Amino acid sequence: MSRLIIVSNRTPGRDPAAGGLAVALRKTLAEREGFWFGWSGKLTEKPSADAVFEDIDGLSVGKLDLTKEDHRGYYAGFSNSILWPSFHLRLDLATIEAPWYEAYRRVNTQFAKALLPHLQPDDVIWVHDYHLIPLATELRHLGARNRIGFYLHIPFPTTDALYAIPHHNELMRDLSRYNLVGLQAQRDVAAFNDFADHQSPSSLSDGPLEAVDFSQTEIAVFPIGSDPDAFAKLSTSPAANKMIKRMQRAMDDQRLILGVDRLDYSKGLPQRVEAYEKLLANNPQFRRLVHLLQVAPPSRDSIKEYQETSDTLDAMCGHVMGRFAEPDWAPLTYVKRAYGQPSLAGLYRLARVGLVTPLRDGMNLVAHEYVASQNPADPGVLVLSRFAGAAEIFPDALLVNPFDTDETAEALRLALEMGLDERQERWHALMDAARLYSVDNWANSYLARLSPDTQQGNGPLRDVLYLASVG
Ligand code: G6P
Repeated sequence: MSRLIIVSNRTPGRDPAAGGLAVALRKTLAEREGFWFGWSGKLTEKPSADAVFEDIDGLSVGKLDLTKEDHRGYYAGFSNSILWPSFHLRLDLATIEAPWYEAYRRVNTQFAKALLPHLQPDDVIWVHDYHLIPLATELRHLGARNRIGFYLHIPFPTTDALYAIPHHNELMRDLSRYNLVGLQAQRDVAAFNDFADHQSPSSLSDGPLEAVDFSQTEIAVFPIGSDPDAFAKLSTSPAANKMIKRMQRAMDDQRLILGVDRLDYSKGLPQRVEAYEKLLANNPQFRRLVHLLQVAPPSRDSIKEYQETSDTLDAMCGHVMGRFAEPDWAPLTYVKRAYGQPSLAGLYRLARVGLVTPLRDGMNLVAHEYVASQNPADPGVLVLSRFAGAAEIFPDALLVNPFDTDETAEALRLALEMGLDERQERWHALMDAARLYSVDNWANSYLARLSPDTQQGNGPLRDVLYLASVG
């Protein structure tokens, strides 16, 4: 079997991972030969030309340092102040500064140059996420002939939003240099094909543009998942039980509504708190009987829009506390820190409602983990945003429009009042889907498609493959 080289901005560390990507890929690589390659997390005076390899829990990880200035332009700037908001259809939160694009390309070139000496001709390279769109172009310039795949962990934007991104045509040409581009949801492939089919020169500064040729690139859906059986096991582990006991002591008989999200504007946290406020306002019978716990580890806090989201959430939580709290009852707890998987599994298992209501999301692995952690004899209810990729595979959740806080409040009421039979029926269907769309099936189906043995002539290019190899 060819070696697998995973490349992503973040590399796995020893701390609890804030995002789903590291958790998902760690397992994939642990089962194959190869290494992980990415940013070390360190900022230095000079960019490192050579990667330093380290063993992290049995994984070989090659790490590069970045300069402070490059990191600002590449990560906080182009990746997270332009690509992230635009891909999540929040053009109102995008900030555009011209020099960021140069830093973005410079870092991608640095990655390619440092990776090349470690490559063997039949290595399969799997590049992850929006930070590294140009990496295949840079590697091909340096002569790499390997099969290179790209996977996008966030939604693909509509054509209009894509046109709002500086150098969008160059970025799309970068994507055409991959052999395989994997996306989270059918919605994303539809958006990609819409661009590919209706390309129009839109940027004056770039001059007249030639259409990007995607004939050598396969675009397909590969919905990412979790390891549901491992999570189910974790949710009854001693560490999970410790968390459950701790919560039960604090909550008595109150029913727990749980949200777990990075503190990010795409997660719809203010709307979520507003929906909870409406639940309490419209249904006084629930006061003192329910409790909302929102776990929200801070994220990208050097970026103004993230600080503002954090401030808004502080104010909204304070407002709901002021309106409903009593000396001996708090309607909500809001925790700004990350927890390890065992503690989270315990919280998920205890929660009567898993509240996963992003305004737009690639997949959302919290939804998968919540389902996997439930007690089959007394499962909770998943309230899920229609705009998370997970909605395509979890139709048995209570699906809501997160912008409509009345609808979310009503879904919360239904979830809290749902009888055991219906909860079990829904949960069984959700757990079956979580197992079918597991992280193993995701990685295996993607890598089967990317492997050198897979001939491109086998089927129509730009075909929508819905888990081609799962069966
Ligand atoms: C999302 C992205 C990942 C990213 C994670 C954490 O899940 O898709 O690429 O690693 O958020 O964000 P951060 O900016 O801290 O890496």
